[in-house]
Amino acid sequence: MVTPVIVRQRGEADIDACVEMALAVHERDGYPLYLPTDLHAFVVSADALAAWGAERSGEILGHVALHRRSAAPILAVAGKVLRQPPSRLGVVARLFVSPSAHRSGAGRALLDVASRDAAARGLWPILDVATGLHAAIAMYEKCGWKRIGELTVRFGEDTSLDEFVYRGPVSLKVSSCPVGVPPELGARRAVSRAQSVNIPKFDVGGPWPETHDGMADEILPKCG
Ligand SMILES: CC(C)(COP(=O)(O)OP(=O)(O)OC[C@H]1O[C@@H](n2cnc3c(N)ncnc32)[C@H](O)[C@@H]1OP(=O)(O)O)[C@@H](O)C(=O)NCCC(=O)NCCS
Repeated sequence: MVTPVIVRQRGEADIDACVEMALAVHERDGYPLYLPTDLHAFVVSADALAAWGAERSGEILGHVALHRRSAAPILAVAGKVLRQPPSRLGVVARLFVSPSAHRSGAGRALLDVASRDAAARGLWPILDVATGLHAAIAMYEKCGWKRIGELTVRFGEDTSLDEFVYRGPVSLKVSSCPVGVPPELGARRAVSRAQSVNIPKFDVGGPWPETHDGMADEILPKCG
């Protein structure tokens, strides 16, 4: 019998293994694209509302977190399409699975837990992903996530990163809707707007805007 993958809250004791796994994922899969100087701070963000690990037979083989924020242009795209203020968005972030455990169902389970947790907090789950991360994009779309935007982010003179913005397959029953529109209907309309919207293309130039990590001067991986 195949031992099932379990997703549970990340504990202190998991952090070293998660950081080590992030390094292996960077080397094998190119996520994060640019290796942060402090990989520990990348994995364990002060901005996280919650974080989880996927485990099989006591071994951590995947990680995800729910963040309050992402970079300002990402939030701007998502907020505009979903018609929500940044405070109503929950950013699924730092999602990675050990290369040895790919296609084990861990990625899907982690994504599901984080997006359900966002919805339970009344937040619209969103994420951003580098356009070259084909496995992740395939998984998001298989799991019902909808692409709602695309950005090109330029760093300095000659570095840029193309990203897609996605929203989760979650319909919230509350919404910042016009006066007189029942919240549930407003939420449905917001989702339907997001589904039918022409995907906006943004070109964000100049230095990377200040992020929640307070590392505005570094080139940060801006994906999930
Ligand atoms: C993306 C990632 C987390 C997926 O994790 P995983 O545990 O391998 O994914 P799952 O086994 O849960 O796959 C769920 C579904 O996603 C799709 N999928 C996953 N990997 C895929 C791939 N390489 N190619 C095509 N589809 C893929 C499939 O539909 C899969 O279902 P199936 O196996 O029944 O066909 C993993 O590949 C990874 O860590 N990649 C590097 C890090 C990364 O890109 N993170 C995203 C940051 S935004």
